[in-house]
Amino acid sequence: MNSSTNQVYPVIWHNNAVSLIDQTRLPGEYTFVEINRSEDMAQAITTMIVRGAPAIGVAAAYGMYMGAREIDSNDRGRFLEHLEKVAQMLRATRPTAVNLFWAISRMMKTAYETLGTVEEIKTNLFYTAQSINSEDLQTCQAIGDNGLKVLPTTPEKLCLLTHCNAGALATAGYGTALGVVRSAWSSGRLARVYADETRPRLQGAKLTTWECVQEGIPVTVITDSMAAHCMNQGFIDAVVVGADRIAANGDAANKIGTYSLALVAGAHNVPFFVAAPLSTVDFSLVDGSQISIEERHPVEIYQVGDTILTPTGVEFYNPAFDVTPANLITAIITEIGAFSPEELQHHQEKQVV
Ligand code: MRU
Repeated sequence: MNSSTNQVYPVIWHNNAVSLIDQTRLPGEYTFVEINRSEDMAQAITTMIVRGAPAIGVAAAYGMYMGAREIDSNDRGRFLEHLEKVAQMLRATRPTAVNLFWAISRMMKTAYETLGTVEEIKTNLFYTAQSINSEDLQTCQAIGDNGLKVLPTTPEKLCLLTHCNAGALATAGYGTALGVVRSAWSSGRLARVYADETRPRLQGAKLTTWECVQEGIPVTVITDSMAAHCMNQGFIDAVVVGADRIAANGDAANKIGTYSLALVAGAHNVPFFVAAPLSTVDFSLVDGSQISIEERHPVEIYQVGDTILTPTGVEFYNPAFDVTPANLITAIITEIGAFSPEELQHHQEKQVV
């Protein structure tokens, strides 16, 4: 965190290493883990020391650079072969967020397109990782500004509900859904954020609240099952969530529980926005059924701290994400504007032409 501005940067490059905010320890402890090796970066992504779609993309990009500098060969062919193995290791960390795969592909493209020496490839890989980091920060700020343009015009000060953490911690900084919240707050359009606690890992209760407190944004935590009641009471003016992968038709994968939130919002005529960079859109997938959904260890469900919640002999199902169908999404807010899911698809078609 930059103490003069309260800006949070979860992935910081300094002294030839990466400092990651240890997100498994927030909000109790604000500590950093220093990463020097590609293998440790892969481990940090798997164990969710760093998490959130754009943030794991940035982390993986630095992991690729670390992997490159670990390769002790000046032979271009052998170097690229080894680098492919590093890419494979990093790709195997988490399956759903496409930003991870996008960043690794961009790093591999840099490697293949640099026609000079191995040293030159390594230098260019470093610059590409730095660009992925700094571009994401600008992208999030643009998402925040574009979100502001599509939020309901009344009441003047809005109450926004969000799910999980799509904030500075989940990106290079600023956030996607929480970027929209930040922009609304700084322009005087925000009354309060409602944060779903987001079972089972509680990213809403632990991380979204932590970010809001840093900035003095009023925040109320609710359990995931309270959203319908809050909407029914008229507490919520709009929902803004992030995304891990958006298919070409606009179906959007995000933290488990997002789909039910969208259904509840639809039933109460509350607009439902997905805020995400274009790098989260996977135009190679026709619809959300093709998105690979991560399943995590059941301990996340059955244990809280030292307490085991369930008797022995029960079974668990712990998908980390779900897919919200495009028809439940009011607009997808990106760095180049806000689109209905159909408009997003046409944007891709125009790009191809
Ligand atoms: O499992 P996590 O904590 O990595 O899941 C994060 C989310 O679902 C976020 O909403 C998503 O990655 C968007 S982050 C800008």
